[in-house]
Amino acid sequence: MDFASPYSRFAAAYDKIMENVDYHRWTNYMEDLFDFYDYKPRKILDLACGTGSITVPLAQRGYEMWGLDRAVEMMEQAKKKAERIGEHIHFAQGDMRDFVLPATFDAILCLYDSINYAVGLTELEQVFERVFDALVPEGLFIFDITTERNIVQNFHFQTFAENEESFSYIWKNIYSHRDKICRTFLTFFLREPDGNFYRKYEEIHIQKIFEVDEVKKLLHKKGFKMLAAYDAFTFNRWHRHSDRINFVARKHSS
Ligand SMILES: C[S@@+](CC[C@H](N)C(=O)[O-])C[C@H]1O[C@@H](n2cnc3c(N)ncnc32)[C@H](O)[C@@H]1O
Repeated sequence: MDFASPYSRFAAAYDKIMENVDYHRWTNYMEDLFDFYDYKPRKILDLACGTGSITVPLAQRGYEMWGLDRAVEMMEQAKKKAERIGEHIHFAQGDMRDFVLPATFDAILCLYDSINYAVGLTELEQVFERVFDALVPEGLFIFDITTERNIVQNFHFQTFAENEESFSYIWKNIYSHRDKICRTFLTFFLREPDGNFYRKYEEIHIQKIFEVDEVKKLLHKKGFKMLAAYDAFTFNRWHRHSDRINFVARKHSS
């Protein structure tokens, strides 16, 4: 069986599977961070925006939003969401390691483990380079990483499954301590448009675990000042029990 590219089939079920994720809290946290750093961005890029669950609410709050994602299918969902509520968002398909957009941004966000899809320090460096070029001087870069603790405690060797009317899925995770890579094996059965059959699809997702020190070192190397690494959704320093760490970095102006 051929594997579908990551998120190409997941897109159809993503919002349903993530319905318990508190995106409202996430959106508020972004604005709290802007306030805390006394920063008033106007134009924001949501890198790896997915189905626009943070992009769209931020547009509703008055920011000029841009969204970029590698998976067109995820962005199709995001576009529909934006259209439904009459918000104009600039969407572009692209890779966070290698994108060029016809604008610069006051802030760039990359949320919900998306940075972990840069599967090594070389890829992470490429993302930081692209983000640096796309930010205005003194612009903020806010992103999170999932931690090894989160993967080991909540995902390693675990299988999740759901059986819905329009789709079913099986989601298995294996973490390799040796190379700090988490492999997610997703099998979907998606109902065909005629409603009579379900088609099977498989995706493999690969995510890398990064340590705070290596992220910090790379940010500095690429011209950012790391302002903080918080235990996500708080203003507390990250700690060894953090499941997600939220970084705030500022582009140094030369
Ligand atoms: C866990 S989802 C998060 C989506 C969104 N940020 C959210 O909070 O719902 C990860 C997203 O990263 C995107 N992604 C993964 N690797 C990427 C890359 N190299 N360039 C751009 N997007 C990428 C996927 O297509 C997917 O939409």
